Parts: sequence; C-alpha cells; structure tokens
Amino acid sequence: MQDYQEFLQEVLISEERLQERIKQLGAEISKDYEGKDLLLICILRGGVMFLTDLMRALTIPHMIDFMAISSYGAGTRESAGNVRIALDLTSSIAGKDVLLVEDIIDSGNTIASVLAMLNTRGPNSLQVCTLLDKAERRESEVPIHYRGFEIPNKFVFGYGLDLDEYYRNLPFVGVVHPGKFILPE
Ligand code: IMP
Ligand code: MG
Repeated sequence: MQDYQEFLQEVLISEERLQERIKQLGAEISKDYEGKDLLLICILRGGVMFLTDLMRALTIPHMIDFMAISSYGAGTRESAGNVRIALDLTSSIAGKDVLLVEDIIDSGNTIASVLAMLNTRGPNSLQVCTLLDKAERRESEVPIHYRGFEIPNKFVFGYGLDLDEYYRNLPFVGVVHPGKFILPE
C-alpha cells in the first residue's frame, strides 16, 4: 500500500485541535454523567481512536463495550439504513446510561438503526457522541448530544476513519485528494 501522503489533499483537523476538543468533550461528559452508570459503546472499527482518547479524558467511572454493524451494500459510500449486527455487545445495557461513541455521522442512517435496536433493550438513557458531523449529508434525523466538529461534505480519513481499511492510525483527520483516489459512490 502506498504512503498516505499520496492521497492527502489537506489536513482538515490537526492532532492538536482533535486532542483539545476531546478534552473539552471529556470534561462536559464527566459533568453531565456524574453519579450515573455510564456505559460507552463504540461502534467498530472507526470509533476506536476516538473512544480511547475520550476515555482518558473522562474523570468519572465508566464501562466500555463494542459492537460492529454491517450495512448491506458495504464498500459503497451510501448506507441504506438496513443494518445488521455483525458483532453484538457482551453485556446487557438494561438500566445503564448509554453513550454511543461514533467516528462520523454522515447520512445518519447507521446510527438511526443502532439507536432503534438499542432502545428496545431498556437502557436508562441513550445518547450520541460523535467526533465528526457531516450535517449536509443527513437523511435520517438523529439526535446528537455531543459533537466534536461539523465538517464539510468531503471524504475524510485518519483518526479511526479508513481509506479502503488503511490509514486509521493517522493522528489527524485529512481530506482525500479526489483526483488520487477513486471514492466509492
Ligand atoms: P451513515 O450511516 O451514512 O451516517 O454512515 C456512517 C459511516 O459511514 C461511518 O461510521 C463511517 O464508517 C462511514 N463514513 C461516512 N463518511 C465517511 C468519510 O468521510 N470517511 C470515512 N468513512 C466515512
Ligand atoms: Mg468505514
């Protein structure tokens, strides 16, 4: 695989800005969830970098769990909203104060389906924390309680987000060079 620089048009959000914003979010969540039974649920795989940094910014006791979703038509940019659980949570969320931790909300279809599924399992509360919000592309209305950054309608990668499964490890969020990488439709 080529070096990421080949596909990078520009750095959209630097490592410094990401880390600063995540510390703010961590402080806010720590205040809001004080005394509650907080469970962070990370949707694999894109949310992993954000989850681990966010956890370190929390000053209150909490648990974590993971789930993976596959949408039909994987490999395309559109998520139709008919998602399937590819890997389920290991523990019950009944009575828990659940915070979903997502890398990016684009059409909103994925998170809307996940919220509907999790709501049937009796959490005490269920809220959404996303690092990135591509609000312009929204198709399903979803409540976002914590948002890192609103970003323009551009395909981005790094900091958990992949380009054909690669480059999730980059510490910044970059814009894909449209002429250098064939974007999925
Ligand atoms: P949604 O259902 O359209 O909101 O899609 C959300 C999922 O699409 C995210 O969890 C990402 O995996 C993927 N996605 C959306 N936009 C981007 C992007 O710009 N870069 C990388 N992945 C993206
Ligand atoms: Mg992806």
